[in-house]
Amino acid sequence: MSFTRPTALVTGASSGFGLLTSIALAQKGYQVIASMRDLSKSERLLKQAEQAGVITAIETMALDVTIQESIEQAVSDIMNMYGRIDVLINNAGFAVGGYVEDVPMEAWRSQLETNVFGVIATTRAVLPHMRARKSGCIINVSSVSGLSAFPGYAPYSTSKFAIEGFSESLRLEMMPFGVRIVLVEPGAYQTEIWRKGFEAIHTTESSPYWSGLSKMLDYSKRASATAPDPQEVAHKIAQIVDSPRPKLRYPLGRGVKMGLRARSLLPWKWYEGLLNRLLK
Ligand SMILES: NC(=O)c1ccc[n+]([C@@H]2O[C@H](COP(=O)([O-])OP(=O)(O)OC[C@H]3O[C@@H](n4cnc5c(N)ncnc54)[C@H](OP(=O)(O)O)[C@@H]3O)[C@@H](O)[C@H]2O)c1
Repeated sequence: MSFTRPTALVTGASSGFGLLTSIALAQKGYQVIASMRDLSKSERLLKQAEQAGVITAIETMALDVTIQESIEQAVSDIMNMYGRIDVLINNAGFAVGGYVEDVPMEAWRSQLETNVFGVIATTRAVLPHMRARKSGCIINVSSVSGLSAFPGYAPYSTSKFAIEGFSESLRLEMMPFGVRIVLVEPGAYQTEIWRKGFEAIHTTESSPYWSGLSKMLDYSKRASATAPDPQEVAHKIAQIVDSPRPKLRYPLGRGVKMGLRARSLLPWKWYEGLLNRLLK
């Protein structure tokens, strides 16, 4: 069956960027498959879609990016129902915080399982369909933490740096097939990722890293409390998907471009000095 409206698959659509991007894409005329690992969390999205007048353009679907069968089932169902996948937004993710020595291996593996292998597996499932049609756009939601790393967030930065390399390679591989690969790199925005991360932070008061981590957490709590509206990111993503020649990277958010410029222009010692002063 072939469906005339372009379709977009969004992962992690139960909240934050995923939820808002699903609505923004529906408003642009996409048939959106808003996927989430727990469908009982779909109420908020459906309510907001109703208010925005796009409820008929959004279908929720179960998809846990850490389970191969779940990915394959979702992609196969979409192909059967709509006959095409034009856009994939690899958005699902979370942030493991804690100093390297304090974070158990299990948490490291779980971070990479979702943020890295989840993106790779979902992308691989969608690629044959985009390749066959010689068109498509895949947006990988990375982070400024994929370009610049802070203490206390090594697992998260490791995962996002990996996505940066993955996307650079894939973009070149897919150019001859007309499939566009893009990285969106937000700084801090007000979504639930912060609360979830703070609640699950890996440390104890007896840790030798307690004082350093506490300073980092104070800084993060201030940054997240005053962070901009995530709608900004959703609108940008909805713009990028329709661009015939998108850039590879879209760093977004308050102070992000300036920080990245400082990182690339300053001698490394000065840059580290700046970071240390910021976190004091
Ligand atoms: N907010 C920021 O400041 C910020 C900055 C830079 C990058 N990002 C990135 O933006 C993306 C979205 O995060 P957000 O800020 O919107 O946070 P969020 O509101 O916590 O949303 C994260 C989404 O990912 C889902 N998810 C987690 N593990 C999953 C899995 N195994 N399979 C499917 N879905 C899964 C969550 O589902 P559950 O509700 O079931 O947990 C949730 O829907 C992430 O990749 C994050 O790293 C966020």
